[in-house]
Amino acid sequence: MSLLSGKSVIVTGAGGGIGRDFALALAAAGASVVVNDIGASVSGEGTDAAPAFEVVKMIKTKGGSAAASTDSVANWESANRIIQCALDSFGRIDAVVNNAGILRDRFFFNMSVEEWRAVIDVHLNGSFYVARAAAPYFRSQESGSYVHMTSTSGLIGNLGQANYSAAKLGIAALSKSIALDMQRYHVRSNCIAPFAWSRMIGSIPTETDDQKARVEKMKVMETAKIAPLAVFLASDLSKDVTGQIFAVRANELFLMSQNRPLRSVHRAEGWTAESIASHALPAFAPDFYALERSQDVFSWDPI
Ligand code: NAI
Repeated sequence: MSLLSGKSVIVTGAGGGIGRDFALALAAAGASVVVNDIGASVSGEGTDAAPAFEVVKMIKTKGGSAAASTDSVANWESANRIIQCALDSFGRIDAVVNNAGILRDRFFFNMSVEEWRAVIDVHLNGSFYVARAAAPYFRSQESGSYVHMTSTSGLIGNLGQANYSAAKLGIAALSKSIALDMQRYHVRSNCIAPFAWSRMIGSIPTETDDQKARVEKMKVMETAKIAPLAVFLASDLSKDVTGQIFAVRANELFLMSQNRPLRSVHRAEGWTAESIASHALPAFAPDFYALERSQDVFSWDPI
């Protein structure tokens, strides 16, 4: 028996990049996989059914079981059709991997409402729609695993990604909320923050020597290196794991922290703006976070 035999898993955005490697690895582990992808550009423009069908063909060639879905995650009705595709094709759903994504990078002061909405729609709304559409099935069968893709751009920070960072941190909160609300039905929900050389980060500008060297180092972060964690989270091996955020970068795995109080100060008579400045500030300041980006925290080369 393979690890995932008998299980039906949906992977959104599985026509390329990290999602394609998820689909291939899940199928190799014995799962029947819904390969969902609209075949859009990095910025979410256009549609092409070919990538989803191509991945289904790759899985079937190796003797695996897969079905293509070309519906968008970014709309409630079409998200329901993605779930229906799993039911029609395989008769059940055991795991949902919310992986579809787009980028519309722009400095905050120039970001348009359209750029904000497009990214929130695919990442945050799309993750909610697909997860919510699967919820009645997970609830009634009293099992199921959600895997959502977050990003250190949201968990830590990055330049020019207000839309993406907000969506990705929102996804971490969505995952935690699902984990809390569905624990009673033995349904779990976890996040992966990947680092991988895909077309998404292939769009980073490489004008200076410094940028070129940085991008060269990124190429060791293969998309396939993220897949074992998704297979683990979709399998019964992770049956007691929920509400967690993991990161993966080439051969490194990380368990990420979650927000907790860092310092506290108390004054029996309460606070004024002045006493905050004179008393609380000196207590807190040593623990203030620097304005770091993801690359400042993950400052060493991928291993
Ligand atoms: P990618 O651009 O190669 O793959 C994303 C896929 O999503 C594409 O095939 C695209 O057609 C599909 N897609 C876009 N909009 C869709 C929609 N509305 N419905 C269905 N499919 C849609 O990107 P990559 O790098 O593989 O990213 C996968 C996930 O990992 C994304 O959620 C991304 O935000 C996340 N991520 C990736 C990182 C990296 O280093 N590559 C870093 C942090 C997070």
